[in-house]
Amino acid sequence: MIQFEHVVKQYGGGSVRAVDDLNLHVGKGKVFGFIGPNGAGKTTTIRLMTGILTPSLGRVLIGGHDMARDPIEAKRLIGFVPDSHELYDRLTGMEYLNFMADVYQVDANRRKEHIEKYLNLFELEDAAGEQIRSYSRGMKQKLTIIGALIHQPPVWVLDEPMVGLDPRAAHLLKEEMRRHCEAGNTVFFSTHVLEVAEKLCDEIAIIDHGRLVAEGTMEALRLGEKGASLEDLFLQLTDAEAVEA
Ligand SMILES: Nc1ncnc2c1ncn2[C@@H]1O[C@H](COP(=O)(O)OP(=O)(O)O)[C@@H](O)[C@H]1O
Ligand SMILES: [Mg+2]
Repeated sequence: MIQFEHVVKQYGGGSVRAVDDLNLHVGKGKVFGFIGPNGAGKTTTIRLMTGILTPSLGRVLIGGHDMARDPIEAKRLIGFVPDSHELYDRLTGMEYLNFMADVYQVDANRRKEHIEKYLNLFELEDAAGEQIRSYSRGMKQKLTIIGALIHQPPVWVLDEPMVGLDPRAAHLLKEEMRRHCEAGNTVFFSTHVLEVAEKLCDEIAIIDHGRLVAEGTMEALRLGEKGASLEDLFLQLTDAEAVEA
């Protein structure tokens, strides 16, 4: 579903290679965890995946659609939860969700069903009529997630989705991510919380200085080191001084 072919992203006229010759394939039915220290290139990779940034070299395909050549078809398949919440402060939560549903042309029945289900799940029903500017960080994160998934896209792309969520909401989101994959869809998310990645993911990639340093199932990543935790692997494979988790 998600394919990166020799993708390079340079910033600052080439002085920074935030993503350096990245090759990645994420199939259907997979929860894929993308982990790495601060500044490793996770957010840049996700912005390339969602078409917000264009590669300096190489190409990104979503469901076989080239993001550069066929952006509308590629983007239609994706629900994207960014790492910052640039929401419209003056809208109420409900107005925001209806706005997102309009953008994605979600019909009245489907939007109602989706909005009711997720407001209930995240215990946001009472706040839905309030302006977003009164929301806490966690509430904004929940609203962003509900809005991003409103068109029920097959591919979920989430940048550090657990940040700001309380343990209960984080647990519910993880269950939803699992369920989405079990229905044959795809979830790609970044995290620096290694325990989350270890428990939730079918496959994991570790990125450092814009390069993949490991990729595969937990078993494959352990490379025969019986009992090695993801933390052990992470510390071995990335610069010790850059570790943040
Ligand atoms: N807009 C930008 N301009 C220049 N450099 C950037 C920009 N965005 C990110 N970088 C640099 O690219 C590298 C990767 O950043 P990022 O993708 O945000 O990493 P992560 O999400 O893993 O923390 C870092 O060195 C960062 O400083
Ligand atoms: Mg980031």
